[in-house]
Amino acid sequence: MTKSIAVAGKGGTGKTTITALTILSLCELNKGPVLAIDADPDANLGTILGIDVSQTLGELRDDVLEEIKNFPPGMDKANYVEAGLHQIIEESSGFDLLTMGRGEGSGCYCYLNTLVRKFSEELFPTYSWIVMDNEAGLEHISRRTTNNIDTLLIVVNDNPISLNTAKSIKKISTTLKNKIGKEYIITNMVRDDRVLEVRGRIEELDIEYLGDVPYDAAVGDALFQKKPLSSIGDSSAKKSVEKLINMIGG
Ligand SMILES: Nc1ncnc2c1ncn2[C@@H]1O[C@H](COP(=O)(O)OP(=O)(O)O)[C@@H](O)[C@H]1O
Ligand SMILES: [Mg+2]
Repeated sequence: MTKSIAVAGKGGTGKTTITALTILSLCELNKGPVLAIDADPDANLGTILGIDVSQTLGELRDDVLEEIKNFPPGMDKANYVEAGLHQIIEESSGFDLLTMGRGEGSGCYCYLNTLVRKFSEELFPTYSWIVMDNEAGLEHISRRTTNNIDTLLIVVNDNPISLNTAKSIKKISTTLKNKIGKEYIITNMVRDDRVLEVRGRIEELDIEYLGDVPYDAAVGDALFQKKPLSSIGDSSAKKSVEKLINMIGG
């Protein structure tokens, strides 16, 4: 059975970092194959993982809409789209990456979305884990461009606004038709002298607290040196994420 984790939270709390560290941890623990999904329109999971994304799903969708206008009658559109979908899955060591990109424009996407959904339904079960980086509004999860989620990790930092975002995410998730198995809060980069206060505020949210990921200078250093996060080795942030992944069955 494929297990899925979605990471959500206010911008800047560390969603993409925690998603990437989760993917790297699962690979190192030999829990793969892993499918990484970047479902944030401001896509940067690939960059952090050191992957050049040649095309996003959004770009493919726009290309296809343009191309099929010129298709000779009788040419199979579904085959064309499926070939494209296979091509946008970037392969790396231990995991693959699918980048969703921008959402829909004004064209008619129903036909394409049906194909994308069918493709996902066939593709996803071939992985042991699916780990998804989201935007705060859970857009892709709510539009059902992705399947059900076993575990939703909501990331907060010591900015009180990130706790408000956590609250709205919980609200959105309860209105969704797709099932979200379990929701947890993760704290990231919270200063030591603020930990107790932040933990107190989290208790008011009525979302189970999973654990903390500390500030780790190695994360910022890797980014600054334009190196993939895999280069940080066994840093404190990575070890903490590994521990959290173990707690949720990784
Ligand atoms: N545990 C951490 N230690 C140090 N820096 C971190 C940590 N988590 C995130 N960062 C840094 O914080 C910034 C925002 O993180 P990012 O993962 O891009 O957030 P989001 O995806 O939620 O917008 C980035 O510069 C990232 O390198
Ligand atoms: Mg991000």
